[in-house]
Amino acid sequence: MSNLIVLDHPLIQHKLTMIRDHRTGTKAFRELVDEVAMLMAFEITRDLALEEVDVETPVATAKAKRLSGKKLGIVPILRAGLGMVNGVLKLIPAAKVGHIGLYRDPQTLQPVEYYVKMPPDIKERDFIIVDPMLATGGSAAAAITSLKQRGAVNIKLMCLIGAPEGVKAVQEAHPDVDIYLAALDEKLNEHGYIIPGLGDAGDRLFGTK
Ligand code: URA
Repeated sequence: MSNLIVLDHPLIQHKLTMIRDHRTGTKAFRELVDEVAMLMAFEITRDLALEEVDVETPVATAKAKRLSGKKLGIVPILRAGLGMVNGVLKLIPAAKVGHIGLYRDPQTLQPVEYYVKMPPDIKERDFIIVDPMLATGGSAAAAITSLKQRGAVNIKLMCLIGAPEGVKAVQEAHPDVDIYLAALDEKLNEHGYIIPGLGDAGDRLFGTK
C-alpha cells in the first residue's frame, strides 16, 4: 500500500488555514497556494538521491554533495493544478512541466482525457503530479495511469487537501504512488466537495466565481 504523508509543518498548516478562509481573496489565495506548494515540495524532495563530489572552494577542496538521481517532471492536473506549479519550480527550476486535462463523462462518470502534453523524456524522469484537491480520486488515479502508460515509473501525488474517499481510491488503483497532503479532511459532500475543504480551488485561484 502506498504511503499517505500529511505534511504537518507549522508554516504549511498556518498558510493552509488562510487558504481555507472564505474571506481570502483571489490574489492572496494564489500567493498562498504558491507558497504552500513550495514548502510541500521541500518536504517531498527529502529523498532525492545525492552523490559526493569534490568542489574547489576559494581556499581548499571540499567533499560536497549534488543531486545524482533522475531529473524531475511536474504534472498539474488542469485547471487547479496550475496554481501549484510555480511554487514547485521555485525549488526545482530545471524540472519539465507536463499537463493533463480530464473531464468526467456525464454518462459513465469516468474521467476522460481531453489534453495531454508530456516532456519527451518521460522514462528519464521522476514525476510529481499536483492538484490542490484530492476529492473522489478519479482524476488523480487517471492522471497516474496516463503517466504510467507513457513510461513513467516513479510518481508522487501532491495535493493540499484530501478526502478519505480520494486517498482510498488512489491507494487501491496505484499502491506504488505515495500521496502527500497538507491536510486530510473529513469527507466528501453530495456534490463532491471536500468537507470542510476550501471550496472550489480552481474558481478561487482564477477568480471565476
Ligand atoms: N475540487 C475542488 O475544487 N474542491 C473540492 O472540494 C473538491 C474538488
